[in-house]
Amino acid sequence: MLPTIAWRGRSLVMIDQRKLPGQETYVRCRTYIQVAQAIEKMVVRGAPAIGIAAAYGLVLGMMAARAETGRSLEHDFEKVYRRLERTRPTARNLFWALERMKAVYERTRGDGLRAIRAALLEEAKAIENEDAETNRDIGRHGQALLRDGMTVLTHCNAGALATAAYGTALGIIRAAAAEGKRIRVFADETRPFLQGARLTVWELDRDGIQVVLITDGMAGWFMRRGEIQAVVVGADRIARNGDTANKIGTYSVAVLARENGIPFYVAAPESTIDRTLPDGGGIPIEERNPDEVRQVGGRLLTLPCAEVRNPAFDVTPARYITAIVTERGVRRPPYEKSLKDPGV
Ligand code: MRU
Repeated sequence: MLPTIAWRGRSLVMIDQRKLPGQETYVRCRTYIQVAQAIEKMVVRGAPAIGIAAAYGLVLGMMAARAETGRSLEHDFEKVYRRLERTRPTARNLFWALERMKAVYERTRGDGLRAIRAALLEEAKAIENEDAETNRDIGRHGQALLRDGMTVLTHCNAGALATAAYGTALGIIRAAAAEGKRIRVFADETRPFLQGARLTVWELDRDGIQVVLITDGMAGWFMRRGEIQAVVVGADRIARNGDTANKIGTYSVAVLARENGIPFYVAAPESTIDRTLPDGGGIPIEERNPDEVRQVGGRLLTLPCAEVRNPAFDVTPARYITAIVTERGVRRPPYEKSLKDPGV
């Protein structure tokens, strides 16, 4: 199996996450527009994976550029950058990856197109490789929070499919399992896109980690019955005070976890932290096509004209978060202080 995202001979190949687990098919993007559309349509999803795809998208955009220098080159770069930036507003890693790519462009723009392209490709590969390593580190730090025999609830998919490899929340579970701990996972189905039912179950099953699928509304009941001992989720954007945007439904899970005295952990790379935002109030929340709610797998569930809201993310206030695990360690409240420290 190819990784989630692979650079192959001047094109970007990605597993089509809309089709999993029924079909394992791959989409090949040869242009930056195709990459932008693949991100929007969620062929690829998950904040770190979106950032990596966008970085390669920028490479593809500059491969098609013709101007060697000057204003036209500037214009070409801006056009590609702006298109990729418009794809998914909540994922901080998208902007972080594009900003990294822009810094490389600015450093090399006087060197001619060939040199610019080579440097951009090298940077995109570095972003991808670093992410795989980062997830191993998150797993190494976070696994200490899980004990042998625990049942852990996760929401959405923060696994290998959402990253370069290994995953963030699922990385912690994988690392705990690798330590010999018996961990059972409850996966919320995660309406409307069903990342939990389709992707998390698929990934964990392939790894031989026990996974039980539940609908989103069941989580509270299992917590109350004492069947869940910890919650681990990923993040799309974390503000300076620890407020965390993640898949819609995460906030409800966090409140339920608090009510039931269960620790609620967030796992994310440092690149998900948006240090420009003092709190979660400024996090842009993507609203997606209402048909994603009206339909499941293309089948209409309701009236075709039913009024619908479809925010893709919500914000969990920091007070519900027991710890945030990054590649640098386990950060505890108060997050204003602990997220500032370079090493913990
Ligand atoms: O809409 P998605 O599927 O891109 O949302 C994904 C999530 O909310 C993940 O939990 C988050 O991006 C972290 S992935 C390591």
